[in-house]
Amino acid sequence: MDIWTRNDFYIIDNLIEEDLALKNVQQVSRKNNLPDMEVSKAQGKFLYLLAKIKNAKRILELGTFIGYSTIWLAKAIPDNGIVISLECDATYADIARKNIEYAGYLGRVKIIQSDATATLNKLIEEKTEPFDMIFIDADKPNYPVYLELSLRLSKPGTVIYGDNIIRDGKLCSSVNSDDKIYGVRQFVEDLGKSANVESTVLQTVGIKGYDGFSISIVK
Ligand code: DHB
Ligand code: MG
Repeated sequence: MDIWTRNDFYIIDNLIEEDLALKNVQQVSRKNNLPDMEVSKAQGKFLYLLAKIKNAKRILELGTFIGYSTIWLAKAIPDNGIVISLECDATYADIARKNIEYAGYLGRVKIIQSDATATLNKLIEEKTEPFDMIFIDADKPNYPVYLELSLRLSKPGTVIYGDNIIRDGKLCSSVNSDDKIYGVRQFVEDLGKSANVESTVLQTVGIKGYDGFSISIVK
């Protein structure tokens, strides 16, 4: 076992009080042979803490998958808050809805099962109230589009978090590039060029291997 995986287990054992509902999500995922794509326990808790630090009431999530991070985010907001979570895959959206219901957070979560770009454009058109925090975790090739549209659903102080930016260290590799890497690379370059956000990227190791995330605040 990698030293960082061992350390992650130690960190989780000592610091992450995971509830039954979150455990259930991971069990459902493994039982159905779904990809191991949800955030780790430590990352889920980090998102939860970030939402609390930000005092977030309105959170937008791109890429619900099975609702694991959605539940962490829902736990962090007050009863009158909302997590709007976008998922294009109907099977994932159904599983997520069941998981979130089991967790008791359906009242704070709205899953929109549709193409994220179309949904974001619709939210912009409807003049949806801007979000306090936006968690971008959907298909990587479209990250640059999601950034552009997310900025239009933001206000000064909105926190934008981008998942899976480092991709096993391949972010700036000139070999082994694929559409996912091109997507996150363009995303990082767009963040750098945008006059509207202040950003950084942190590289991470742990149960999910070598990856990283971007964090930005809207000016
Ligand atoms: C992938 C997507 C994710 O959101 C993730 O956390 C890990 C991997 C992927 O598409 O490869
Ligand atoms: Mg991810």
